[in-house]
Amino acid sequence: MSTKPRTENRFRGVIMPTGSHPVIRRVRRQGSHPAIHGNKLWKSSCLLMDYLNKNRPQHCNTVIDVGCGWGVSGIWCAKTLGSEVTSVDADANVFPYLEATAELNKVRTRHLVSRFEALSTKQLAKFDMLIAADICFWDELVNPVTNMVNRAVKAGVKHILIADPERPTFHEMAQRCAVKHCADIIDWQTHTPIKASGAIMVIENA
Ligand SMILES: C[S@@+](CC[C@H](N)C(=O)[O-])C[C@H]1O[C@@H](n2cnc3c(N)ncnc32)[C@H](O)[C@@H]1O
Repeated sequence: MSTKPRTENRFRGVIMPTGSHPVIRRVRRQGSHPAIHGNKLWKSSCLLMDYLNKNRPQHCNTVIDVGCGWGVSGIWCAKTLGSEVTSVDADANVFPYLEATAELNKVRTRHLVSRFEALSTKQLAKFDMLIAADICFWDELVNPVTNMVNRAVKAGVKHILIADPERPTFHEMAQRCAVKHCADIIDWQTHTPIKASGAIMVIENA
């Protein structure tokens, strides 16, 4: 007897569709194919949501979710914290998936197609909190992500959180931020309903 693949998970109050969910299958059929790993929900977003659930940020009216992919961390902020969220990704093809995920959760976020490198200090200054999950996965991303964090600190973004499954490239970036901005690098794990482990770089810039 064959068992049907799971179509969604619920995690800390958000619905996380899998690749088999009918709405996701529809988006795929319509021809959106993300090309920079924004092809699924990555587990580091669970680390981020779980951390924020246990450590509610003081300032979260406006949130930017960079390298958002399907955008579930930002969607969680919109749904749980009532934040106005801007979801940013270099790959325009992630946004139909994000929109489908947001609709399942009955919230909306703003969409911006942009690379980390192109987010200016002036743009970042509009946000209380910057969040990201699994965005520093290539050697070539260490400088752009570090420089974006530098600009976010300069812009006065009050909370900056980047979660990761602990790739060496993440640690290189996080170490630089620890030296320059006293970032904390916190080991984090979730067990139920989704098992994930990694680290979260946290800068409290309030
Ligand atoms: C591993 S996925 C993580 C997606 C999402 N944060 C999650 O946890 O499900 C990395 C995302 O970063 C985006 N990305 C890669 N390089 C980027 C860049 N230079 N600027 C902005 N986004 C980028 C990719 O398109 C992809 O959606």
